[in-house]
Amino acid sequence: MHISDPRIVAKLGEIHVELRHSAALAGLTSLGIGGTTDLLRIKKHESLPDLLSLLDANHIPHKFLGGGSNLLVGDGELPWVVLQLVRPQPDVVLDGNLAHIDAAADLGRIITFCAKNDLGGMEGLIGVPGTVGGALRMNAGAYGMQIGSYVREVKLYRAAGRKIEVLRGNQISFEYRHTSFAPDDMMLAVILELPSKSYKEILQGIRICNEKRRSSQPLGQKSAGCIFKNPPGASAGRMIDELGLKGLSVGDARISDRHANFFVNAGHASAKDMLALIADVRERVQKSFAVSLENEVVVWNA
Ligand code: EPU
Repeated sequence: MHISDPRIVAKLGEIHVELRHSAALAGLTSLGIGGTTDLLRIKKHESLPDLLSLLDANHIPHKFLGGGSNLLVGDGELPWVVLQLVRPQPDVVLDGNLAHIDAAADLGRIITFCAKNDLGGMEGLIGVPGTVGGALRMNAGAYGMQIGSYVREVKLYRAAGRKIEVLRGNQISFEYRHTSFAPDDMMLAVILELPSKSYKEILQGIRICNEKRRSSQPLGQKSAGCIFKNPPGASAGRMIDELGLKGLSVGDARISDRHANFFVNAGHASAKDMLALIADVRERVQKSFAVSLENEVVVWNA
């Protein structure tokens, strides 16, 4: 979608929103898949109510992009614009055991920064790509921990009330790869309350998780992490593996040889290829195990 009306372009400048025409979303997602659309980069959280009113008044649909690491975007010219926060400097401030973090901050960098300041708890998430906001929205988890356990407070833009709000941790429900945030809520900032641990101890935990991840997941390849959620009491990866599907491909969309719940872009895969592979695997698992796999990856199909 292309914003060409000069009045809208001028207004975006006034409210500190940078407009990038025809951004290639393939370059903004870890899968390296996705078509083009205009990208609106938000420099000030406070502009959001004005920005959303402007888009609504001009019937311009939009989506919020985080780090693009758990996302499959459709091909071609996309029928909505994309909103993304510009990361401020600094993006984290510590106050005792509280870490005040901007949603656009890189998750891995924040875990390392906190570790160096003797704040731990998030060792399991090391190696998970993406922003803190994205991890929060999905309640990212690994190796027995989840980010939701540490949330003290979240600042977010709530599309329903069209305003910026602050929620306490106990007002939000964090479940397995699911939260009570509305789909059109935009994470802006979070306060995490992290346990005190020595840097040495945290580093040891980080090394163990890194090692486990390196040995079981295709880290160097373009992927969106796990494609399907694990059904209760089972592992989607193990089921797909048991069906002998590692290496199965549609075009350049391919099931990883290392972990069967990781589908990689082995070259120039299109969203169409990846969606066909996902549908095929879902059908096979349904037939063999009578289990309906639910997507973990978020799909923005045109
Ligand atoms: N397994 C296989 N073959 C495979 C993959 C896994 O047999 O191809 C077996 C493993 O040997 C193991 C079991 O299945 O016995 C579980 O595998 P793993 O430990 O890799 O965990 P997972 O359930 O597949 C989950 C999360 C990952 C997270 C890891 C580590 C989901 C969907 N996946 O994977 O999260 O990193 O545990 O905690 O919850 C993600 O969210 O994108 C993600 C990758």
